[in-house]
Amino acid sequence: MTVPLVKQAHDKVAKYLQAGDIVVDATMGNGFDTLFLARAIGERGKVYAFDVQATAVEATKTRLNEAGVSERVRLIHDSHAGLSAYLQSDNMDSIRCVMFNLGYLPGSDKVSKTNSESTIKALTAAIGLLNCPGIISVLAYTEHLGGREEADRVKSWAMSLPTTQFNVNIQIPEASNKSPPEWIVIECR
Ligand SMILES: C[S@@+](CC[C@H](N)C(=O)[O-])C[C@H]1O[C@@H](n2cnc3c(N)ncnc32)[C@H](O)[C@@H]1O
Repeated sequence: MTVPLVKQAHDKVAKYLQAGDIVVDATMGNGFDTLFLARAIGERGKVYAFDVQATAVEATKTRLNEAGVSERVRLIHDSHAGLSAYLQSDNMDSIRCVMFNLGYLPGSDKVSKTNSESTIKALTAAIGLLNCPGIISVLAYTEHLGGREEADRVKSWAMSLPTTQFNVNIQIPEASNKSPPEWIVIECR
């Protein structure tokens, strides 16, 4: 049976995480990745989670409260493009992991979605803060309008990173449709 990419991303990222780590969920959405990160970093760690939609922040807040882990998460109702400013305001200058799950909020009107410009800004900020060992995981969906361009921009950006420092791996699963999601993993070992 094929393991869904979201699960593969969690399994891969989990290998890097330790209690007390500082991590970022760049696209909180319904909070599944935020909750996964919050559980993995324990009560001494901190998750910075971003989303531009109030509905996403509310859904994530509820999920974290129900799991009893909300005190380890800072929910930020703003674009991930400004992630360094938020981390710096808390004197955080290095992070273990950043997760991106691009596209639109599942179940929404699909109007508000990630875009290449802010995604690349956030990735550039993220790589500057990334610890070694550390990991950036980007799940990019290519079926919606703008998704293909965004995935291609992320891949070009990742492939331009110095190979002496970063290992880049791109996975595109076999799919029945012509636009499968793509998973871009950047590791600093
Ligand atoms: C595919 S969903 C994320 C799913 C989420 N990781 C989860 O576990 O449920 C993508 C999210 O990115 C958000 N988004 C769009 N542009 C953004 C931006 N510039 N900064 C942060 N979040 C953004 C959307 O509002 C949407 O909720």
